Amino acid sequence: MTKQKEIVLSGIRSTGNLHLGNYYGALRKFVAIQDDYDCNFFIADLHALTTNPDPEQLHANVKNILAEYLASGLDPEKSTIFIQSDIPEIAEMYLLLNMHVGIGELMRTTSFKDKARKCLGLKAPADGDSDEAFEKEIIGADTNKRVNAGLLTYPTLMAVDILIQKATKVPVGKDQLQHLELTRRFARRFNSFYGVDFFPEPTDFDFGGAPVKVPGLDGSGKMGKSEGNCIYLVDEPKVLRKKVMRAVTDEGPKEPNSPMREPVANLFTLLELTSTPEVVKHFRDAYADCSIRYGDLKKQLAEDIIAVTEPIRQRIGDIMADEDFLRRVVAQGAERARARAADTLAEMRQIMGIRKF
Ligand code: TYM
Repeated sequence: MTKQKEIVLSGIRSTGNLHLGNYYGALRKFVAIQDDYDCNFFIADLHALTTNPDPEQLHANVKNILAEYLASGLDPEKSTIFIQSDIPEIAEMYLLLNMHVGIGELMRTTSFKDKARKCLGLKAPADGDSDEAFEKEIIGADTNKRVNAGLLTYPTLMAVDILIQKATKVPVGKDQLQHLELTRRFARRFNSFYGVDFFPEPTDFDFGGAPVKVPGLDGSGKMGKSEGNCIYLVDEPKVLRKKVMRAVTDEGPKEPNSPMREPVANLFTLLELTSTPEVVKHFRDAYADCSIRYGDLKKQLAEDIIAVTEPIRQRIGDIMADEDFLRRVVAQGAERARARAADTLAEMRQIMGIRKF
């Protein structure tokens, strides 16, 4: 008898073009594991709605990401590739699972706090400050500045994506680990509340290494669409070189073996992802003995990134032009994803006592 492959699932929100953070945090891993697992990759358009996008833009972004998935090497014959909103069972299960999720635990989620603060125009509290003011602001916010409930229940929806397919492995970047922890907690809670062994507890999935956080080019924090610090897979080489050459650095090391400041460490992180170990060593040694020229490092980095992105960029155009192919891919993906989702949902309704007379 052949052994059942483990179920892998992951998704990316359709909020814009994919950047290097999405590529190294998620997409590259998706491509690498397609042969060995039961792979399910989707476009999280319902999650994108939590930030109230323009409808035309949302639709265009779904198509862009689909083309970017395929151009990066996702193969519809090996993986189930689908759009989240094509699976109505997800919306129903989201309602059911929310009955077992606490608003307190959702409000304490880091990504919720960050996004809610942005909605309200608040700064993050300094280390050690309490969040009391923030919580008051959320409850008292006027309707123009509201933090929508979809943003609060984002982790429930993400848990549903995973649990409805009974996935056990979830390849994501570091920023998603807290959501995954919540998914495990919700699965455990459901199982123990109803005395069943229904949902498996999924773990993050990083073959050969820890989850990565790809930094931006602006000196601090992660690369992110809303931070305006991204290198996109669709960036033309000219644009990409310009972005890298403008990346923030410092005045350079003054003494041998000086500690590295964050903006420079970030460039090294990018170099480690895209260049060979020899190149990385060359620049690390140059930093250590103070002979480094950041201009040279940036030039090398730009070319190494282009070597990764350019073949993908060139394929994206051709794929985008073939609408029939794109439609076929997602129709086939939806059919496969719905089959398992419908089974899970039917059983979940039974367990919760929603039964037919
Ligand atoms: P999204 O669109 O924010 O991110 C998609 C994936 O890209 C990774 N990522 C990064 N990794 C490393 N460094 C970065 N700078 C960086 N920026 C983004 C994210 O970790 C993620 O893996 N909530 C998910 C989408 C989702 C999902 C799911 C994922 C919805 N349902 C179920 C897995 C399973 C998200 O944040 O997407």
